[in-house]
Amino acid sequence: PALFAPARRNSRGRDLTHAPDLAGIEAARAPHRSTQFQAAPLIAGTAAPETAQPVLNPADPADIVGHVHPASAADVETALATARPWDAPPAQRAAILRRASDLYEREFGPIFALLAREAGKTLPDAMGELREAVDFLRYYAAQAEALDAPPRGLFACISPWNFPLAIFTGQIAAALAAGNAVLAKPAEQTPLIAHFATRLLHEAGVPRTALHLLPGTGETVGARLTSDARVNGVAFTGATETARIIARAMADHMAPGTPLIAETGGLNAMVVDSTALPEQAVRDVIASAFQSAGQRCSALRCLYVQQEIADAFLTMLTGAMAELRLGNPWDLSTDIGPLIEAAALRDFTAHIAQARAETRVLWQAPAPGTGHFLSPTLIRVPGIAALGREIFGPVLHVATFRAEDLDAVIDAINATGYGLTFGLHSRIDDRVARMADRLAVGNIYVNRNQIGAVVGSQPFGGEGLSGTGPKAGGPHYLTRFTARPAPALAN
Ligand code: SER
Repeated sequence: PALFAPARRNSRGRDLTHAPDLAGIEAARAPHRSTQFQAAPLIAGTAAPETAQPVLNPADPADIVGHVHPASAADVETALATARPWDAPPAQRAAILRRASDLYEREFGPIFALLAREAGKTLPDAMGELREAVDFLRYYAAQAEALDAPPRGLFACISPWNFPLAIFTGQIAAALAAGNAVLAKPAEQTPLIAHFATRLLHEAGVPRTALHLLPGTGETVGARLTSDARVNGVAFTGATETARIIARAMADHMAPGTPLIAETGGLNAMVVDSTALPEQAVRDVIASAFQSAGQRCSALRCLYVQQEIADAFLTMLTGAMAELRLGNPWDLSTDIGPLIEAAALRDFTAHIAQARAETRVLWQAPAPGTGHFLSPTLIRVPGIAALGREIFGPVLHVATFRAEDLDAVIDAINATGYGLTFGLHSRIDDRVARMADRLAVGNIYVNRNQIGAVVGSQPFGGEGLSGTGPKAGGPHYLTRFTARPAPALAN
């Protein structure tokens, strides 16, 4: 029971609607609007490499956020050779991770600045991300005390740019809480925030030999970490295709049974039926599809609206889309920030051009000329099968359905092979129960948005092409990082 519900509270964050709180945030982040941040390998006993590359702000290419010194092949080898599991009692590890969570909360000024400038996060998004990172640290700390099982040894943690603090921290916190050593490879797009966070973990007391940071490319760092027999487990969040590559490399080079804990892509749907409250559903569609510029694996990609209400509903939805403000995420008036990089923007060009040629684009506003901005876009499709692959940005597809075809809608969603999130707006209890029963997805949200899973309350993760489980922020996650089989749980 202690493992299932460790006693702790989630981070309260700061109230962005409360003027004194907001003024405090502005004062704390303002000095970091032009700070030059640095990222380099953090490997016990070694110095930073000479070569450095600039990291640019995705909203403003003239803003150099800082420089990264990528890890070399020799750095990866040194890190592998010198890493040592964290040989401290669980209670001591937990205390240090809690101290780190306090440091994260203390350093909200530079953290919010980095999340805006390096990752394109608006302030509400940055607040959510900091809270989630803090929650992961405290949740896994409490679980480690309850679990008290031996570590596996050495974990490679490979994290994505879309949650460069929360997911980066969550993987590491779990591996460390369980007593493993960690080799952390942050996303190439977001090394600066990873470096900042790693220094806080070291400052809190995580031994330098238990946590090495290896910024760099998938080829130099990722490929080596996932094909080395000294690694005893891999935690990965990112594209489904990358997970396949990692699984193949691990199968070839590591002991059979070495765990791969992968959280991958989603092709997520929402159904709005004729009993939904339209204003509420519109608000939740907007958040699910466009918050964080749609760059969440949980985000809504294909909306099914019941035919009888479709015209009225889409009029409301496009009206709400027209109100969204694109711009620099540093500005408090901005609702939607940039895509992470130019390549992401290019990816959408052909997709949207084809839809336009077929007169299926129902809404798109102009986007700012500089920075990697893509306006929220609404595209008509016959059904989710037309998407075929994960679409990672603020592009929402919409289809209509008749009540008698709902089973076919469920079949089509399941047939994508992905299974991450699903949203349902309906007041028909039987329908809610039946859909929840038949849909092969990890997280189902009813009469609310489908993003922003809360640590400890909404364990997050998918099935099929969306991930291996166990769910992050849930009762089973830590057991995969330990060498003992999972205990039987009461729930
Ligand atoms: N955990 C995030 C969410 O729920 C997605 O990565 O939105």
